Amino acid sequence: METIKNTVHSVTILGLGSMGTALANSFLKNGYKTTVWNRTAQKAVPLVKAGAIQAETVEDALLASPLVIICLLDYDVIYETLGKLGRDTLKGCTIVNLTNGTPQEARGMAEHAEKSGTKAYLDGGIMAVPSLISTEHAFILYSGSPTAFEQYESALSVLGGTTYMGSDSGLASLVDLALLSGMYGLFGGFLHAVALVKSENVKAEEFSSTLLIPWLQAMISVMPEMAKQIDSKNYSGAESNIAMQEVGYRNILQASIDQGVDTRLLEPFQTLLKQRVADGYEKEDLAGLFELIKSEIDHNYKIRS
Ligand SMILES: NC(=O)c1ccc[n+]([C@@H]2O[C@H](COP(=O)([O-])OP(=O)(O)OC[C@H]3O[C@@H](n4cnc5c(N)ncnc54)[C@H](OP(=O)(O)O)[C@@H]3O)[C@@H](O)[C@H]2O)c1
Repeated sequence: METIKNTVHSVTILGLGSMGTALANSFLKNGYKTTVWNRTAQKAVPLVKAGAIQAETVEDALLASPLVIICLLDYDVIYETLGKLGRDTLKGCTIVNLTNGTPQEARGMAEHAEKSGTKAYLDGGIMAVPSLISTEHAFILYSGSPTAFEQYESALSVLGGTTYMGSDSGLASLVDLALLSGMYGLFGGFLHAVALVKSENVKAEEFSSTLLIPWLQAMISVMPEMAKQIDSKNYSGAESNIAMQEVGYRNILQASIDQGVDTRLLEPFQTLLKQRVADGYEKEDLAGLFELIKSEIDHNYKIRS
């Protein structure tokens, strides 16, 4: 069957927290007939002033548009919200669920949607904060029904860049959480570095802009080589071997203790460094730590976009 593109001009948003409100505003600004529902009805007032239609019930919201976007706090809230519906309410809807969750939760929701007669299900991971929605800096990962993605990509692109990960509904969530784990690693390192220099009254702002950020940017440039080592499982030929790095890392922890800085963020990494050295890989590169944390499951998955 040929996919119909660009025919949707009507969308429903369930959930008007900071993110749902940003999504609704974005559709409104782009001329979409936008129906909204939120547990706390009051939050819809500014959107209604801007032209949105406020549905009184979840049921009315779902029946209003063929494309339904869910952006609630978590999956428990989604089940609570959809659980009270009559059997046929989801029939005919394509659901795009942009609520953050795990791959298992996304797959479970895809199954639930199918059993409830939903036309199609797409799961998504929003890689932006609300103020960046609709800007060039926002992108959203999608996975699930390929037909639904093709049909609604043009409407979804109103929110930001679109990246389709594949038909397994859990993939968008997996990649979303992987990107967030990279971000939290970066922020954790930032916070510890600032705590160290602040222990001697160095201003965080000055330290960050003149030294830390340029340093991190330089270190990010090493990541493509690390990724290559991981893909090839070859960590040899290190110019900065892991035994030397383990000693340097020990100094970071000792200096932190001496300066009264909490070491809890850094300790787990030291455990891995020590184990890799003890396992006999002292001459290899840092990327070899991957071997200690990787999953044994190999799905041989490739990113498409
Ligand atoms: N904000 C971000 O930077 C960001 C970025 C990427 C992804 N996300 C994801 O987007 C989703 C929404 O985030 P947000 O920032 O909009 O969160 P939020 O501002 O805290 O809004 C939470 C939403 O969930 C609803 N909700 C919570 N408990 C409920 C319940 N028991 N029954 C019915 N509705 C309930 C809230 O309704 P009420 O208004 O009635 O409380 C509100 O609509 C989350 O999954 C989040 O991880 C957010």
